[in-house]
Amino acid sequence: MFASVIIVLGLAALVGYRLFTRSRLSNVPGPTITAFTDVWILTNTYFERRNRLIHELHRKYGPIVRLSPHEVSVSDPAYIKTIYINNYDKSKFYSLFDNYGVTNAFSAIERHVHAPKRRIMHQFYSKSAVTAASVEESIRTRLDRASQYFEQSHRENKAIDALRLFRSIAMDVVTAFQFGEDHGTNFIRDPIERDSILGKYSVQAKSWFIGPYLPSLAKYITPRSFVESITFTDQWNIDNMRRSGFPPDSAAKKLIDGGFSELEAASEIADHVVAGHETTAVALTYLCWHLAKHPEIQDKLKEEIRSACGPSERIPSTVLPAFKDLDRLPYLGAVLQETLRLYTPIPASEPRVVPASGMWYSPSSSEYGSKESRIFIPGGVVISMQPWTLHRDSFVFPDPEKFDPERWIKSDSEMLHRMNKSFMTFGAGIRMCVGMNLAMEDLKFVTAFIFSKYSVKLGPETTDDSMYMIDRYSTRPKANACYIHFEEH
Ligand code: HEM
Repeated sequence: MFASVIIVLGLAALVGYRLFTRSRLSNVPGPTITAFTDVWILTNTYFERRNRLIHELHRKYGPIVRLSPHEVSVSDPAYIKTIYINNYDKSKFYSLFDNYGVTNAFSAIERHVHAPKRRIMHQFYSKSAVTAASVEESIRTRLDRASQYFEQSHRENKAIDALRLFRSIAMDVVTAFQFGEDHGTNFIRDPIERDSILGKYSVQAKSWFIGPYLPSLAKYITPRSFVESITFTDQWNIDNMRRSGFPPDSAAKKLIDGGFSELEAASEIADHVVAGHETTAVALTYLCWHLAKHPEIQDKLKEEIRSACGPSERIPSTVLPAFKDLDRLPYLGAVLQETLRLYTPIPASEPRVVPASGMWYSPSSSEYGSKESRIFIPGGVVISMQPWTLHRDSFVFPDPEKFDPERWIKSDSEMLHRMNKSFMTFGAGIRMCVGMNLAMEDLKFVTAFIFSKYSVKLGPETTDDSMYMIDRYSTRPKANACYIHFEEH
């Protein structure tokens, strides 16, 4: 009996060893199970542990780790250039972001499909285009509409759900950009429409796992609520676009003029509407939450913003300087940069595919291991980096868990260069966020508007636990709400 057990165990070990050594990624460090199956990483992804787990794996195994027999994660800033600036194709993860069955810039896998779309969009998302007077005015108009909520919080001495308010502002800004100034949503003033549509987007956010991570099963196991809500928002988006009549100031018209078909334009816009409003709102929410807990940072920010503001006029947003002046405020810039570093709205892996010829990994500096060691990654392997880990690299960001805006002001030029190179909140390379300039303008205006007049305090419902960053491709607070009391002074 004993001998048979030994024989069976020995055979199992032999088979295991043969399988392991035949795994294409057996040369990459990582938990043994990942050489055989992707079930382990998928299970952890499903249970919303992926980003933090990959971070722990990097701590344990170093700058390159195996996640499955066909996937590795890298955490060495030099490889942002290799993977993202050199523009490796995206993985299939992204194809589930097609809308109406039509590819858009975000969901395009191959570079030749992506490049022509990006060329057209660059023209109206460039910094000079989005900081044109008309866009600046559009954001100010939304701030004036939103001012009633801040005033109400002060007057009634109560905390309001800042996440919902920021989602409304961001949605109204993004849709005015997509459909034209007079054809965007008015969620700030229309709570019924706001709750209906934002509710649908929240349902979709809950079903984030199946599509991108189990694409072959998606057809069979996607919950009905998800399919219904996506069908609804798809129709809502295309109706908005058609109803707008494609005015000259809309992104929709510029896409059509650039040669997009109506459905291609709709697929693009549906993506920008969701990508643009959630991320911006989440960043603003964490900024207010963090500053509510740190009055010393808040005081410094208020001082800088208030000295840049003009006298208070009847129309609230007119107190704010022109965007070109806001954009130059160092502390405002630093607080936002630090928010986007630690509370990255998209903190997860951005997966790409190693080209057919394969690639070599060797640590770029002794901080990441011996420069002599080399690991070959065969073509076809999915390779990714995640901002969650890059932004917590203590070689680049000393004391990485500390929210320290001064690091963006006081670091020497070499350190600053290193920090900027590792900053991946908006991705990197030609596929980085096309909406970044619009997002930054929106973020700066809303933040300056708040701290030009108010202090922020936490409502009793909002705790560290309710603000836990859920572990998904894009994050948000666990409670899907953040109660902030805006107090005038
Ligand atoms: C704080 C706000 C935002 C953050 C953190 C953010 C983050 C990102 C990231 C990380 C990517 C690259 C993803 C990847 O390669 O896996 C991306 C791509 C993209 N984002 Fe954003 N985004 C923000 C706001 C916006 C806005 C306002 C828009 C549009 C109105 C937008 C539209 C897009 C589009 C279209 C892409 C795909 C670009 C391409 O592949 O050419 N985003 N974003």
